Amino acid sequence: MDANPSPTQLATQAAAALAERTGIDRHDIALTLGSGWAGAVDLIGETVAEIPASEIPGFSASGVHGHTGTLRSVRMPSGRHALLIGARTHLYEGRGVRAVAHGVRTAAAAGVRILILTNGAGSAKSEWPAGTVVLVCDHLNLTARSPLEGAAFVDLADAYSPRLRALARQVDPSLPSGVYAQLPGPHYETPAEIRMIRALGGDLVGMSTALETIAAREAGLEVLGLSLVTNPAAGVAQERIDHLALMAESRNAAPRIARLLADIVARIDGENDE
Ligand code: HPA
Repeated sequence: MDANPSPTQLATQAAAALAERTGIDRHDIALTLGSGWAGAVDLIGETVAEIPASEIPGFSASGVHGHTGTLRSVRMPSGRHALLIGARTHLYEGRGVRAVAHGVRTAAAAGVRILILTNGAGSAKSEWPAGTVVLVCDHLNLTARSPLEGAAFVDLADAYSPRLRALARQVDPSLPSGVYAQLPGPHYETPAEIRMIRALGGDLVGMSTALETIAAREAGLEVLGLSLVTNPAAGVAQERIDHLALMAESRNAAPRIARLLADIVARIDGENDE
């Protein structure tokens, strides 16, 4: 094996290992489940294999939690397979943009055409309280980084698929849409930064998703982004932003958004039959 593989070569190796370990040659849809969203897994289908990510090339132990997540292969009622990427790497972990994009690239190398990215986010809009689910319609990449290397001049107009958003709205017509601003973190924003982001057209703030979407678009994947509002962003409401309170908010919303996400996945997967 090449001692210094390119990101695409590493993803190809990871996909081969995944196919060998899961017995599933091809996955159709991939999902990254952010804060609050994990409960959807068992509603999407039957887990056929779950592999510690650290056993797949390119995924290494997370610096944050002291353990890696898993990659899970789930058979949907249609018989097609979803890949659950439970090993998201955030930019703030300091492992670089290659690590951030590796899960997405592995999904693409595993045959995936549709990527669903979920996250927990702060809301810059007072009319979206904690618990609101928002469809991401565009992003502001405020990390000053790109996951792409070389002359990869990828078009990001409609980076978040209008077709997939329309399918999500068939499941819940009340879902609002908004612009997601990714910041490097891990600190939260200042109220002045939130005012700046609002002036720039941002509605949601978080520390993931935009870089993953850029990598996904380079790989030709169709992307659906879903944010769970876990808190009003800095300065939007009286209360301070507290990580534990955010986690509690995610837990409260978990059963509802798990059902919503599973229904959206079923709707999207159902399109393949039509
Ligand atoms: N800011 C950035 N990231 C976040 C927030 C926030 O307020 N809430 C959840 N993730």
